Amino acid sequence: MPETSPKGLTRLAFGGDYNPEQWPESVWQDDVRLMREAGVTMVSVGIFSWALLEPSRGEYDFGWLDRVIGLLHDHGIRVDLGTPTVAPPVWFYREHPDALPLTPEGVRYEFGSRAAICHSNADYRAAAANITTRLAERYGDHPALAMWHVHNEYGVPVSACYCDSCAAHFRRWLETTYGTVEAVNKAWGTAFWGQRYASFEDVNPPRATPTVGNPGQALDYKRFADATMRENFRAERDILHRLAPGVPVTTNFMTALSQCDSVDYWAWGREVDIVTNDHYLITDGRRTHVNLAMAADLTRSVAAGAPWILLEHSTSGVNWQPRNPAKAPGQMARNSLGHVARGSEGAMFFQWRQSRRGAEKFHSAMVPHGGTDTRVWREVVELGASLDSLGAIRGTRTEADVAVLWDWHSWWAQNLDWRPSEDADPRERADAFYEALYDRHLTVDFAHPEADLSRYPLVVVPALYLMTEAAGNNLREYVANGGTLVVSYFSGIVDEHDAVHEGAYPGALRDVLGLTVEEFSPLLQGGSVRLTGPDGSELAGDVWTEFVVPRGAETVWTYADGLTAGHPAVTRHRLGEGTAWYVSTRLGPEGLDTLLGRAAEDAAIAPRADLPHDVEVVRRSGETGSYLFAINHTTTDAKVPLETSGTELLTGERAAGRLAVPAGAVRVVRLDG
Ligand code: GLA
Ligand code: ZN
Repeated sequence: MPETSPKGLTRLAFGGDYNPEQWPESVWQDDVRLMREAGVTMVSVGIFSWALLEPSRGEYDFGWLDRVIGLLHDHGIRVDLGTPTVAPPVWFYREHPDALPLTPEGVRYEFGSRAAICHSNADYRAAAANITTRLAERYGDHPALAMWHVHNEYGVPVSACYCDSCAAHFRRWLETTYGTVEAVNKAWGTAFWGQRYASFEDVNPPRATPTVGNPGQALDYKRFADATMRENFRAERDILHRLAPGVPVTTNFMTALSQCDSVDYWAWGREVDIVTNDHYLITDGRRTHVNLAMAADLTRSVAAGAPWILLEHSTSGVNWQPRNPAKAPGQMARNSLGHVARGSEGAMFFQWRQSRRGAEKFHSAMVPHGGTDTRVWREVVELGASLDSLGAIRGTRTEADVAVLWDWHSWWAQNLDWRPSEDADPRERADAFYEALYDRHLTVDFAHPEADLSRYPLVVVPALYLMTEAAGNNLREYVANGGTLVVSYFSGIVDEHDAVHEGAYPGALRDVLGLTVEEFSPLLQGGSVRLTGPDGSELAGDVWTEFVVPRGAETVWTYADGLTAGHPAVTRHRLGEGTAWYVSTRLGPEGLDTLLGRAAEDAAIAPRADLPHDVEVVRRSGETGSYLFAINHTTTDAKVPLETSGTELLTGERAAGRLAVPAGAVRVVRLDG
């Protein structure tokens, strides 16, 4: 059994990516002194250091890394050691130019950035295995070593390569998956548009074509690219396990980033010893703390509920968005503890000391350009102290109220070309439903559509265009056994090959929802419809409408105008012991709240009306007790009711009755009993 928490780390993780190779060694002394001052417990080292560690093929220079790790060890700081395989050196590419990835259009990327890798390339694999082996041999039993950090953010920024070597691997993958080329033809529907393949040798990656290519092929290529990256992760992991038994292995995910939709984290979560995640606020005008909570919930879910670690976020602004605002005073602590509330065993950052040169010099860091007489540094030190006082929560688990179904494969499939409407964006629906649940103060677990859902009173399906028959059966059983299900439009339409399920829409869900959909009728840009419902209540929808035919379901809201006027818009179906809701248009925040309110009633989930808006309340429980986190994202002081008295861990004060949570502050109460 591999270790599932960083070896020798006895406190919450606090620190960041440490890239000391940017600085003269004299600065390193200052670094470790400041790390002590801030209460840093662990840093990530060597993630991009291949060119320094192996300056030319077979020539190694570990001296500097020996000194860095030694210095950290002397100061009691644990090391999360990177395998630098995301940044092969220039000599490698000179020897193997075909290890640079090829775009679908046939453009080969150049050396000079990072993560330019064809994961099928045999020379890359060999070189990566070699440097990983050298590192494991040298540092595998180093007393400072807490964890291995393989590669960096698989899938970003290159999600797939389209070269000949990938083509050959893809053919092998298809052969293993399907057995015969006839099975591929059937799955992809190549009888249409004359795409039939006579042999595996004829199949290529979905390279640039004059118009839309075969969707089954595109979807399988995503699966193949994901599986290939995972193969490479496993190869490194197995070397590390063999040469350094007892040291857990991770690779940093980006679970909720919409730019990173190219890896199936359900599958990755099963491969790592510890799930770790990187999260950056996307400052596009939406509520960043809601996006953060969602990322954290998704990460915990990918970890199957086990503790995980936030391996990167930012102390203040990033530098890769169009506009990169600084964080407000206190926001870094709220962000950090927001992740901790939802299962992270600490908070780490990119990066320790802000770069003076290179691509990320305007990205914030723990030690900013301005040094220690700065707000960021003072807040870093304060956060270190806060995390230190929360050590007892290690190993406890976040308690969720409801499940939201999530599947990367469905997301991949729906985002292919030529769908009924490009405005029907699955990620948008997931975000919107999550936000509505967040605003009802419900904590969300994400779940795979085929997972056991029996412990959740309410399950929400914001957008699952692709749904296997097994998933459909799973939901039927869930509802029949007393669950409450809410399904939003364009779900359950195709199977795992992007083939429309037999019979009327939504094939995978017809009997669960007690209805069929005769036709989709997406709206033009800016279009909207009105819905009328119980007691004359009105809701508004946009983007999408449908001709729904009830077959057992009752109509709750009806389209009042538009092409679908008079047809059911929102329905409710009693099946066995449970209830299944269906909403066939895109509801705004108000509509979602109303709908979820009704569904929550069916699920017997009591409203949390006594909790103030934008004050996040989450619980972690376990052997050491039960901890209530309250995070006030507003600019006014708030009060949160406590079921039992307790001790507030950041202030050390006793708390009972109503817990005061000042504007912008975080409180963590260890509940008595
Ligand atoms: C990613 C990378 C880091 C750094 C940050 C900047 O998460 O892993 O190396 O580039 O982004 O936000
Ligand atoms: Zn390739």
